[in-house]
Amino acid sequence: MPPSLPVRLRARLSRAAAPPREELIARHVRGRSFADVGCMWQIHGGIAFAAEAAGAVRVTGMDLMGQTPEYQAEHARRGSAVRFVQGDLHDESALAQLGAHEVVWCSGVLYHAPHPLLTLERLRSVTQKTLLLATETLPERPLARNVCVFAPRPGTHPTHTEAFDPARGYVNWYWGITPSALRAMLAATGFNIVEEHRTAFHTTVVALVNQTG
Ligand SMILES: C[S@@+](CC[C@H](N)C(=O)[O-])C[C@H]1O[C@@H](n2cnc3c(N)ncnc32)[C@H](O)[C@@H]1O
Repeated sequence: MPPSLPVRLRARLSRAAAPPREELIARHVRGRSFADVGCMWQIHGGIAFAAEAAGAVRVTGMDLMGQTPEYQAEHARRGSAVRFVQGDLHDESALAQLGAHEVVWCSGVLYHAPHPLLTLERLRSVTQKTLLLATETLPERPLARNVCVFAPRPGTHPTHTEAFDPARGYVNWYWGITPSALRAMLAATGFNIVEEHRTAFHTTVVALVNQTG
């Protein structure tokens, strides 16, 4: 996929036919607590606000980034009770501030994480019931399952355009994850997938916490 395609078109190609995220969230949050981990970049808390509007009872957004002016303006416009925690989801003290929620949404984060199993373990520690996880994925490889590609080359995914640069931390795509690898990693970290939505380059799962795990 040529990296010169406009950003919005690339995002559409990646997510085409994925369920609208607001719809998916609305199905799970009424009367439940909800957290969006990675809530800020380009969406300014929009998913947290959508969950609140859909009837979530206690809503928290978390991100490494601070609150954007757009987030603050929307928070004020809605008279929203959404709480924001700035911090790294891998950091125990930031996670303690976030606290456990019945439903956790995490989109666009996993492939930016150097240690995705650790990331899933951290998400598991704050998820009481349901994890809604959305991530860019690579197509399955012939004759191989559970493949993750370290530092995939730009162009191997329609929205991936920048070469790996160790100095840029989480901005990097550390991993190109195939759907089978995602399923295996979720199972290994205490989740049972009950629903999966896949397009060529994007996967969204609904996963329940495995109470015996
Ligand atoms: C690619 S953006 C995705 C934004 C949004 N969730 C979406 O799907 O459109 C990744 C977001 O996660 C945040 N993020 C990345 N790594 C994080 C971490 N370790 N802890 C908390 N937030 C993180 C980034 O700052 C950014 O806001």
